Amino acid sequence: MGNMEEVKNHQPVNVGIVGLGYWGPKLARNFQSLDGVRVVMASDLRQERLDDLKKLYPDITVTRDYKELLNGRHLDAVIIATPVNTHYKLARDAILAGKHVMVEKPITSNSMQGAELLSLAEKYDRRLMVGHTFVYNPAVEMVRQVIQSGELGDIYYMNATRVNLGLLQPDINVMWDLAPHDLSILTYILNDDPIKVSALGSAYVNRSAHLDEVVYMNLRFRNDIIANLRVSWLDPVKMRRLTVVGRKKMLVYDDISEDKVILYDKGVEVPPYSVTEAEFRASYRNGDGTVYPLTWTEPLKAECDHFVYCIRSGTSPRSNGENG
Ligand SMILES: NC(=O)c1ccc[n+]([C@@H]2O[C@H](COP(=O)([O-])OP(=O)(O)OC[C@H]3O[C@@H](n4cnc5c(N)ncnc54)[C@H](O)[C@@H]3O)[C@@H](O)[C@H]2O)c1
Repeated sequence: MGNMEEVKNHQPVNVGIVGLGYWGPKLARNFQSLDGVRVVMASDLRQERLDDLKKLYPDITVTRDYKELLNGRHLDAVIIATPVNTHYKLARDAILAGKHVMVEKPITSNSMQGAELLSLAEKYDRRLMVGHTFVYNPAVEMVRQVIQSGELGDIYYMNATRVNLGLLQPDINVMWDLAPHDLSILTYILNDDPIKVSALGSAYVNRSAHLDEVVYMNLRFRNDIIANLRVSWLDPVKMRRLTVVGRKKMLVYDDISEDKVILYDKGVEVPPYSVTEAEFRASYRNGDGTVYPLTWTEPLKAECDHFVYCIRSGTSPRSNGENG
């Protein structure tokens, strides 16, 4: 085993990053901005990505062989931002080398591998965090608080849409690419896991790869709450929107709007006593929408900060392996 001592509170935390494509450099920037954290090493198979990082951060040691990040005691943690089909092997190697691991979503490309990482992290007492960025988003936090405060009343149902003309991935379908965002949001704001899940999808463009580009998911939670997720790489209009309908009020969280969270004082009620069809009158409340004021912080920075906090304090991350 490598570096197995706990990092004490406020002690410097040294991290290494594997994968410097689109997302990895954003992680590098955020970890570099945190107090007491140093990005010491980084790895990518492509030399040009290493060269680009070196221009920004000359002090970071770069290598094409990620195994160099695992040798010795230079690093406390390894951050994995590579394609999904490599997550399992890289995360496993890092945990076995005694490193804490933050792996990008989705944790692995099948649940058995995810479960194995989870038990390895438990066995070696390492923090395992999954990059579910949205649970560190102030707007999602606000939605969670509104729901948990009871302001919406009992939740009836939820609807999430995450569509655009997206980047087709070579190794996973759209559900594995995009639905982790919505699943992490729904389970976080409800503080519960679904009891039933089904999905329907199709591949139209890259048919031979059998990787669905459009997926509809249906979920059932306890207390008769249902949810529908629509994820697509084939849509003309970009949408990132969640509607939550409760007995008392309703809300819409639109991630690409200036007014991210709007609370609607709308609802429908029918008299509690039984009435004949002729007497039946539903009463409607059609109040205004109120924009919730938000103090914005960069979700990815909050996520990186949380990971470092979990390493220092030994607590389990909000988006831990089990959530993954
Ligand atoms: N949390 C979010 O909002 C968010 C956003 C975008 C991407 N992601 C996730 O980040 C991960 C990476 O996505 P991306 O869009 O940056 O992909 P990308 O293809 O742009 O980059 C991946 C990089 O990993 C490198 N790589 C592959 N195997 C490697 C290995 N063995 N050692 C070192 N480097 C290796 C590749 O050369 C490439 O540069 C994915 O899991 C994706 O789902 C998360």
